[in-house]
Amino acid sequence: MDVEQCVALVTGGNRGIGEAFVKVLLEERHAAKVYVGSRDEAAAASLVAAFPGRCVAIALDVTNDIQVRAAAERCSDVNLLVNNAGLFTNQLLIGAADMGCARAEMDVNYFGPLAMTRAFAPILARNGGGGIINVLSAAAIVALPNMGGYSPSKAAARMLSTSSRAELKGQGTGVTALIVGSVDTRMAEHVQGAKEDPRYIARVGLHAIERGVDELDTDRMAIEVRAALNLDPKGLEKRLAKLLHATILSTGR
Ligand SMILES: NC(=O)c1ccc[n+]([C@@H]2O[C@H](COP(=O)([O-])OP(=O)(O)OC[C@H]3O[C@@H](n4cnc5c(N)ncnc54)[C@H](OP(=O)(O)O)[C@@H]3O)[C@@H](O)[C@H]2O)c1
Repeated sequence: MDVEQCVALVTGGNRGIGEAFVKVLLEERHAAKVYVGSRDEAAAASLVAAFPGRCVAIALDVTNDIQVRAAAERCSDVNLLVNNAGLFTNQLLIGAADMGCARAEMDVNYFGPLAMTRAFAPILARNGGGGIINVLSAAAIVALPNMGGYSPSKAAARMLSTSSRAELKGQGTGVTALIVGSVDTRMAEHVQGAKEDPRYIARVGLHAIERGVDELDTDRMAIEVRAALNLDPKGLEKRLAKLLHATILSTGR
């Protein structure tokens, strides 16, 4: 997959890591065009104004089948799909009042990329194969009990990445899963410690799809989580359970 001159669609492209993908594609990687998927088209207005003719806003809630279908009809020239839109509700899995948040996270983080992949697979095939980048999380490789339904939804999306890579191999579509640790965006406002610049995640993600990398740990935290998992998986599970008890469960959220 050659990112230079590509036509990309970035879901949740109006802010955070998605916005960084849009900017890096247009400013640094000479993309021919980028569709900015945004629940509220107006939220992408400044991006559209900054890149006249090369940046197009589309109304796209990835949980809305009608909007997903409309996006596929309108963006038939896409050869790079970035499934970036994500939801983190910061609720417990068992202790939450009901299953609403867990269902919403599964809807956005798993069924969203699945719907987009199904809608755009034939388009990518017609446009030479192209590629799909799925923006996942370290929570996809390790169950983080203090993140409730987020971890299961990202783990499901990781399996989606593997299965869709196998299914779409024959049409020449590469699928890259990004294992992201901690990034300086609104989603991670509550997180302490070092946070990576969103542009860095976009840069390494684009290099990964170009090099045909299946799964990449994008930043220091992701690399550290992977290392801890490989070194002592049970020890890591115990430490995360202890952390949950020492923080959320003892303070009562
Ligand atoms: N920040 C981190 O530390 C971190 C770590 C690991 C993984 N990630 C992953 O990175 C991706 C981007 O997150 P971020 O950090 O940039 O978070 P963010 O700043 O909260 O941005 C989330 C984006 O997703 C969009 N979105 C949410 N629900 C959507 C839906 N149903 N349909 C379409 N768009 C929707 C939001 O749109 P609105 O503006 O309309 O709300 C927003 O554009 C997510 O998949 C997240 O899980 C982030």
